[in-house]
Amino acid sequence: MDAIENIFSRKSVRKFLSKEIEQEKIDTLLKAAMSAPSAMNFQPWHFVVIKEKENKDKVIAHMPFGKYDSPLIIIPCVKSLRSVPFQHDLSNCDLSAASENILLAAHDLGLGAVWCAIYPSKARAKEIKKELGLSFGLTPFCAIYVGYPDPNDKSQVKNKYKEKNISYM
Ligand SMILES: Cc1cc2nc3c(=O)[nH]c(=O)nc-3n(C[C@H](O)[C@H](O)[C@H](O)COP(=O)(O)O)c2cc1C
Repeated sequence: MDAIENIFSRKSVRKFLSKEIEQEKIDTLLKAAMSAPSAMNFQPWHFVVIKEKENKDKVIAHMPFGKYDSPLIIIPCVKSLRSVPFQHDLSNCDLSAASENILLAAHDLGLGAVWCAIYPSKARAKEIKKELGLSFGLTPFCAIYVGYPDPNDKSQVKNKYKEKNISYM
């Protein structure tokens, strides 16, 4: 699939088969995430990969709009870098770019995925961090549910292109 076709045909998938995802594909998702652009190339990220049901349940318990049953959850986290003074401004942008790369790579690999918000809720990030016992410098940014799409998933690709959202100058 070429890149433009991939972007145009991606959609959020919220129903998954229980089929396990091959480690090679998980590795590709993580490589895609870390290929994202990063302000001043600080790469202020860490990716928590959750396969164990017990740990998935801990996340889902704190996700009011993310109660999906997937074989895998990836939690992109902001990693605090003591050497970086203005990290708080741009690390969320870096994490967004990395998260979108995961969605697009998943689609290319025949997987489905949905990005569910943790940021900007500090309370949700704190609860999930505590539940998972994440180290001090990590702040969960979002939860990406990944799996092979259930053929019964009726979600459609949405055409969001609107000329009124464009200005030429
Ligand atoms: C920052 C962000 C937060 C989102 N949070 C949720 C969420 O909590 N639960 C959910 O089901 N989908 C969530 N989504 C997915 C959006 O609902 C979805 O992208 C949107 O409806 C457009 O559909 P599409 O992804 O199929 O194009 C989120 C997407 C983004 C970018």
